[in-house]
Amino acid sequence: MRKLIYHVATTVDGYIAHEDGTTKGFLEEGEHIPDYLESLKEYDAVIMGKKTYEAGYDFGMKPGDAPYPNMMHYIISKTLHLDTKDERIEIIREEPIGLVKKLKQKDGKAIYLCGGGALAGFLLENEMIDELKLKVNPVLFGAGIKLFGKSNKQVNLVTIDSKLYKSGVTLSTYKLSYT
Ligand SMILES: NC(=O)c1ccc[n+]([C@@H]2O[C@H](COP(=O)([O-])OP(=O)(O)OC[C@H]3O[C@@H](n4cnc5c(N)ncnc54)[C@H](OP(=O)(O)O)[C@@H]3O)[C@@H](O)[C@H]2O)c1
Repeated sequence: MRKLIYHVATTVDGYIAHEDGTTKGFLEEGEHIPDYLESLKEYDAVIMGKKTYEAGYDFGMKPGDAPYPNMMHYIISKTLHLDTKDERIEIIREEPIGLVKKLKQKDGKAIYLCGGGALAGFLLENEMIDELKLKVNPVLFGAGIKLFGKSNKQVNLVTIDSKLYKSGVTLSTYKLSYT
């Protein structure tokens, strides 16, 4: 079965963005960047919440663009309307459990859960996330959007891999153990 992997950058205090959705303070240079770009080849589908899709506009993306060219994009939103004929984009109007179950049954590469916290929290509550790839940046935001939104679910993690970059960023891979 294909795995759903939440692959995300976080602060040491567990925030993926500031309260206003910006991410200033995450390191934008260093060896972790080419490593991340290389790792995108492991995915052929990406799932994201509406606010994560729209956060791309701050980086030059236009409405209707597919930010990850080699992936099918599933954007979870009841309210988003995009004027696009790009076949790599599908807006999912309902809660995404059925979508994730369906994608996991299909052949293919791993599924990239891009974020944000609200969507990841919902998928965690429903025990849909198989792995967590956490890029911990050496910074505290003090407040902001949490890694798993409002979820307070407790889950044991099995560490699969861990790497420390010269920049101080660590990349750890965990398997989620729901039992
Ligand atoms: N650090 C990183 O690596 C990283 C990665 C990704 C995102 N981010 C940041 O995270 C921020 C966004 O995160 P967020 O938690 O505020 O929002 P989000 O999860 O990206 O999007 C929330 C929206 O998605 C839809 N949605 C999410 N979960 C749903 C569910 N279970 N069922 C139905 N619809 C659902 C809803 O849109 P509707 O109201 O339209 O239905 C909801 O308002 C951005 O600012 C971005 O910069 C950071």
